Amino acid sequence: MVSKVASLFCGCGGSDLGLLGGFNYLGKDYKKLDFEIVYALDFDKYAVDTYNKNFVHKAECADICDVDFSNIPDVDVMIGGFPCQSFSTVNPTKDTNDARANLYKQIVRFLKEKQPKYFVCENVKGLMTLQKGAIITKILDEFRAMGYNVRYKLIKAVEYGIPQRRERVIIVGIRKDLDYTFEYPKATTHEGNYTPLSAVIDELAIPESKYYFSERAVQGVKNAKNNMKRGLWQDLSTPCLTVTAHLAKTSMNSRDPILLVDATKELYRRFTPREAARIQSFPDNFLLNDSEPKSYKQIGNAIPPVLMWHISEALQDAIKANDKKANVETVHLINFEEIIKKYPKDIVENKDYATTKGYTSLDGGLDLTKNVLISLVKADNIDQYLDRSAKVYYTGKKFPSTIALNKLYYFMPYIKRKGVRDLYIIRIARVGTKKEVHPECDDNDFRLVFEIEYVCQYFDDYLPVHLDIWRAFKDTTMSYLEKCKKEKLVAIE
Ligand SMILES: C[S@@+](CC[C@H](N)C(=O)[O-])C[C@H]1O[C@@H](n2cnc3c(N)ncnc32)[C@H](O)[C@@H]1O
Repeated sequence: MVSKVASLFCGCGGSDLGLLGGFNYLGKDYKKLDFEIVYALDFDKYAVDTYNKNFVHKAECADICDVDFSNIPDVDVMIGGFPCQSFSTVNPTKDTNDARANLYKQIVRFLKEKQPKYFVCENVKGLMTLQKGAIITKILDEFRAMGYNVRYKLIKAVEYGIPQRRERVIIVGIRKDLDYTFEYPKATTHEGNYTPLSAVIDELAIPESKYYFSERAVQGVKNAKNNMKRGLWQDLSTPCLTVTAHLAKTSMNSRDPILLVDATKELYRRFTPREAARIQSFPDNFLLNDSEPKSYKQIGNAIPPVLMWHISEALQDAIKANDKKANVETVHLINFEEIIKKYPKDIVENKDYATTKGYTSLDGGLDLTKNVLISLVKADNIDQYLDRSAKVYYTGKKFPSTIALNKLYYFMPYIKRKGVRDLYIIRIARVGTKKEVHPECDDNDFRLVFEIEYVCQYFDDYLPVHLDIWRAFKDTTMSYLEKCKKEKLVAIE
């Protein structure tokens, strides 16, 4: 099953290429993964241009702060390398309260509104130690408050066959009600076997003079008193230092990695954009921006596609295992034709409903032995469940055969992102068609129809629900719900 994904802060698409897979890097195929990006966003026009040259789906160019998330499709997964300049160890003096530092709050807003099952966020290593860890704790707490179990791990690009010593924090969140798991990918390459920089540098002495440092620049570095962190020419037999978004402004006096072309002639040069892209594990068929400075910036900002591929493959494995656990694949659909034959009139008629009206379990008016169907309410019908005026519930086309139709009695609307609270009685359960409410619909578009009536507010407040069958339909008994009151969670296996 393909998972739908929203990519926030997509940049030129390093993370998104890794997530989708289907590319080759250094002779190895990174197979296509089961993800589909249904929404991608970045506010940098040039990054979006590069993105849109490389992917069939298109990214939107907008400031995330102005985006109304209710207008974008629901997704299973959100990925977002929220901007890190303000957190970066490269820039330790920067005020962590500036607007860019707070962009993680846009992730919080997204989680609150869209509640994807999973999310993956990338950030710089410095985030872990900034203000003695206070910043990352605050960010993770805010993610958790949106209903997620959240973990993070420092991942080293060199351990996945990438010739670069880049280290990044990968934060993974899983919605709490799902009880799902995720394992970070295991390293594929170990110390001693790291891919050397030489694997991606075809030739040192390239003809284009613009990449070479001038004699003056070389002399300047030689004369510099403190050149410890300067002139960082790389040993081709080991992985390269981290390439950053700063690459466009690389000088011999900066802390960016450079190449020594000829020691006796004192020739040094910067990487070409294509070399930088290779160091970041972009395949050679990834189209770069026409502007070199923009290219360097986008490449330096990117999550190495190969690194993201490994994380995404691990996520794909987790999704498969979790879905299997949730029984999604083994649930059978009910057959409406068979039901019509079996119940030519109504499936159930609960005539005694009037006697339970207004009772709560404490009054003893509810029958705790009876079945309750917990069922997802469609977004456009939520209002009538919030004001308890709902009279008819139509199921979707799909309805699991595991529900005991002839025992349908109580009904609990499950409101996405809220949970369950109110109890209704199912007066009549029958097979109907969508045509009853939408005359334009086909006669044979069968649905189960429940004629319902509000009974009482059963839980003091909305309780989160963990439903294993499609997270939409499940029947249980009233006595089980009594237990859930104490647990403050409705979890049904
Ligand atoms: C670390 S980069 C993401 C790189 C990307 N994940 C990749 O792998 O190529 C962060 C991105 O956030 C974008 N950005 C920063 N502020 C933004 C905002 N307010 N709205 C939308 N995008 C923003 C930047 O343009 C930049 O491309």
